Amino acid sequence: MREYKIAAIPADGIGPEVIAAGLQALEALQQRSGDFRLNVEHFDWGSDYYKKTGRMMPEDGPEQLKPFDAIFFGAVGAPDVPDHITLWGLRLPICQGFDQYANVRPTRILPGISSPLAGVGPGDLDWVIVRENSEGEYAGQGGRTHRGLPEEVATEVSIFTRVGVTRIMRYAFKLAQSRPRKLLTIVTKSNAQRHGMVMWDEIAAEVAQEFPDVTWDKMLVDAMTVRMTLKPQSLDTIVATNLHADILSDLAGALAGSLGVAPTANIDPERRYPSMFEPIHGSAFDITGKGIANPIATFWTAAQMLEHLGEGAAAARLMRAVESVAAEGVKTPDVGGKATTQEVTNAVCEAIRSSNI
Ligand SMILES: NC(=O)c1ccc[n+]([C@@H]2O[C@H](COP(=O)([O-])OP(=O)(O)OC[C@H]3O[C@@H](n4cnc5c(N)ncnc54)[C@H](O)[C@@H]3O)[C@@H](O)[C@H]2O)c1
Repeated sequence: MREYKIAAIPADGIGPEVIAAGLQALEALQQRSGDFRLNVEHFDWGSDYYKKTGRMMPEDGPEQLKPFDAIFFGAVGAPDVPDHITLWGLRLPICQGFDQYANVRPTRILPGISSPLAGVGPGDLDWVIVRENSEGEYAGQGGRTHRGLPEEVATEVSIFTRVGVTRIMRYAFKLAQSRPRKLLTIVTKSNAQRHGMVMWDEIAAEVAQEFPDVTWDKMLVDAMTVRMTLKPQSLDTIVATNLHADILSDLAGALAGSLGVAPTANIDPERRYPSMFEPIHGSAFDITGKGIANPIATFWTAAQMLEHLGEGAAAARLMRAVESVAAEGVKTPDVGGKATTQEVTNAVCEAIRSSNI
């Protein structure tokens, strides 16, 4: 029996609802497979913990997480706690502290789910966005002076290092090389940002020489939104900075049908630390507690987690179950259905149990 230690951090809003759904699907997979076991430990960190203790997680939180094989994360954000406190208090210290520098965001239109783009169906939009996850615009450098006065100044400094850019480019080229089309689009803004983004382009061209079989091109981020919308078929693997990919992947999720189906994996490719798996979406205050959060993003990130742990067969089984349930029309309201989170979860678990491959 192969065993893995998983840290579950459901956190805020719909986080606990979708993580509970994800854990039920993982339990069904373990029973169906019979040859691996996930030992899940729960952590009650997040905004409620902050309101009680003044911290989003204990000071030694990262130390507590280090022995785990993976982290299964819900979402952070509460209406009565400022967003920069929730994000910088929990999610970013884990991503940055564990050097999870590759943020991998697959997007495709699943069977039974409609894209808002006219005439675009499954097969027309099949992308993986690689987001630089350790520096760039979210490096945290900057400050505020003369706070509250008319002459107040605020700086938000983007940091690009040769090491950081080279390693994310190499990761993206390798990923593009592993996909059938071997096609990579490098997103940039080197017309207006003439230092960091020009270095980004130069390093892309250098790393490209190591991957002669990968076809690559370059897009300015503003033009990229147009290409994603009008020519989704022309894209495959995409690499972009922390901020650019954050924005583009929300657009990608919406174009694939809903933010509720979009997963993400925060990967430490060198496996020095646990990697973290989460849906892209936030805590969705507007639907919290209504029982209608779409669990597909969480199922998909659970599949990414299984893949990362080396359980590729279970990952594929989970995605087949998700696709068959979506195709049958058991869907939450965000993708045009009437089902609850629990009904979709039950259907996915049943599809896992009854699968004969
Ligand atoms: N990784 C994270 O933890 C993360 C990511 C984004 C936003 N946030 C935080 O979440 C809070 C709310 O942010 P927001 O409203 O901008 O983004 P959001 O992703 O929470 O919600 C945006 C819209 O998408 C819908 N949606 C999101 N997930 C869904 C799902 N699974 N099923 C159905 N519909 C879904 C919501 O109902 C909402 O209408 C804020 O505090 C923000 O900081 C956290």
